[in-house]
Amino acid sequence: MSNKFYITTPIYYPNAEPHLGHVYTTICADVLARFHRLVGDETFLLTGTDEHGVKMDRTAAEKGVEPCQLADRVSGVFKSLWQELDITHDDFIRTSSPRHHKCVQAIISRLLANEDIYLGTYEGWYDEGQEEFVTETEARTRNYIAFNGKPLAQFSEPSYFFRLTKYADRLLDFLNSHPEFILPQERFNEVVSKLKAGVQDLSISRATLKWGIPFPNDPEHVVYVWIDALSNYISALDYGTDNDARFRQFWPADLHLIGKEILWFHAVYWPCILLSLGEPLPRQIFAHGWWLSGGRKMSKTEGNFIGIEKLREAAGAYGMDTLRYYLLRTASFGSDLNWFDAELARSFTELSNTIGNCLNRVLKMVFKYRGGVLPTREPDALLLPVDYALMNQTQALFPALQTAYAACQLHQCALLPVELARSINVYIEAAAPFKLARDPAKAGRLDTVLNITTQGIYTAMAGLLPVLPHKAIEGLSQLGVQANGRKLEQLALPLADGHVLTEGTPLFQRSTTGYNLP
Ligand code: MSP
Repeated sequence: MSNKFYITTPIYYPNAEPHLGHVYTTICADVLARFHRLVGDETFLLTGTDEHGVKMDRTAAEKGVEPCQLADRVSGVFKSLWQELDITHDDFIRTSSPRHHKCVQAIISRLLANEDIYLGTYEGWYDEGQEEFVTETEARTRNYIAFNGKPLAQFSEPSYFFRLTKYADRLLDFLNSHPEFILPQERFNEVVSKLKAGVQDLSISRATLKWGIPFPNDPEHVVYVWIDALSNYISALDYGTDNDARFRQFWPADLHLIGKEILWFHAVYWPCILLSLGEPLPRQIFAHGWWLSGGRKMSKTEGNFIGIEKLREAAGAYGMDTLRYYLLRTASFGSDLNWFDAELARSFTELSNTIGNCLNRVLKMVFKYRGGVLPTREPDALLLPVDYALMNQTQALFPALQTAYAACQLHQCALLPVELARSINVYIEAAAPFKLARDPAKAGRLDTVLNITTQGIYTAMAGLLPVLPHKAIEGLSQLGVQANGRKLEQLALPLADGHVLTEGTPLFQRSTTGYNLP
C-alpha cells in the first residue's frame, strides 16, 4: 500500500536573490521527495515565496519600486532557478496570491471566532531582519542586537494578539509524547526548555504597514508575518475553501524542512495556530544547520558569498549532480556546513573514482569478455566468502537507504551507494578478472565475478536516483535499464541472466562547457 508524503521548504523572502542556503534546503527537500516518489508514495513537494512585511516594503522603497513589483521579479528568479536545478516541486505558493489571501483571512476569522485573538498594544523590540518581535528578556540577553548584527528596533502600537499562552501547555504535553516531532534531537530539547521558560501572546497585526493581507474584521491592520507565512503550508492545499480535497489528501505535513534559525516559529507558533484551528499537527520538523563559506559567514562584501552565479559556475564545471552530492555528503544532516571550492572538486573526484570508475570497469569487462551480455553466476556451492560479502552488501543497500531516508540522514543516503561502489572496486581488484579471462578453466569464476559486480553497480545506481537524478538515469541506461518511472520495488529485482548492457561514455568527465550539464 502506498503512503502519502507531504514535504515543504520554507517560503523564501524575495527581497534578495537566492543563494546557497535557499538552494541547499530546496535540494534536500527535492532529494527526499524523489525518494518517496521512487518508493511509490503519493508525494507533494511545496515551496514558494514569503512576500509581505517590512523588509520587502523597505527594499522596494530603496529600489524605487512597489513591493509587488519587487515580489514579482524576485519570486520569478526563485521559480526559474528551481526549474534550472530540476527541482521537482508540485506547487509554488506566493503569499501575495489571491488563494493565499483568502486562506489567511479564513484562518484569522476562525481564530477570532474562537476568541483566540484580541486587540492590545504592542510595546517592545523588533528584529527587522527576522521579522520577529523580541521580548524584553530576550532582547537583553541578545544585547539588543538583531540576528543580522544590527540593533533591535523599538515599537509601540495597537496590534492584534494571538493567545499563544492558551496553547503552550497543550503543546508541551504534545511534545512530551512526540519526541520525534523535532529533529535533530538537540533541537527538540532546546525548544522544550525554551517553552517551559514561558511564552507570551503573539503580535499578529500591524496598523502602520499597507503591504500585507488586511485583517478581515479591521482592514486598518494587516496580518503580520509569521501567521501569514506559516499558513502557506495549508493555503497551498486550498484550506478553508469549498474545494479542499488537496488539504484532506495531504495534511498533516509529513515533513517541514527548515533552517535552524526559524525552528521556534515552526515548532511553537505553527502548532499552536493549528491547535486553535482544531487541525492535526505536522508529523515532523527537521531543522538543518547553516552554511558558512570558507569558515566565515557568507557575505558579499567579504567576497565569500555563494550566490546564483557561483552555483552556476560550480554546476557548469562539475555537473549539477555533483553539486547535489557535495551539499549532501559534506556534513551529517542537521550540522552546520562549510563551503570550500576544493571540497566540491573532491566530491567530483570521489564520484568519478567510485561510481564512475566502477560502472566503467564493469561495463568494459562484460563487453570485453561476454559481448555485453550478463552471464549466469556459478551455483551457490561454488561461491566464495568474498562473493557473499559483496552480494550481502548489495542486498542490504535498499533497506539501509529506507532507514536513512526515514531518519532524514541525508549524508548517509548519498554515501551508502558510493560505499557499495567502492567495495565493488576492491572486489574487482582482488578477483583480477583479466587473469581469469586468460584461463579457459576459470570461465565459470569469471561469469560469477561479472554477474555479482554488475548486480552491485546496478543497485548502487538505482539507490542514487534521488541524489544524482541525471547521472543515475544515465548510468542505469548504460546498464540496459530504463529507470524513468520505475519504482524501487522493481529496481530491487536482480538483472536477469542474459540481460543486455549498453556501452556508454564515462559518467564523470570534467567539462568546461555551460551549465545544465547534469
Ligand atoms: N520567509 C521566512 C521563512 C518562512 S517559512 C513559513 C524566511 N525566509 S528566508 O528567505 O530568510 O529563508 C530562510 C531559509 O533559507 C532557512 O530556513 C534555510 O532553509 C535557508 N537558509 C538561508 N541561509 C542559510 C544558510 N546560510 N545555510 C543554510 N540554510 C540557510 O526565513
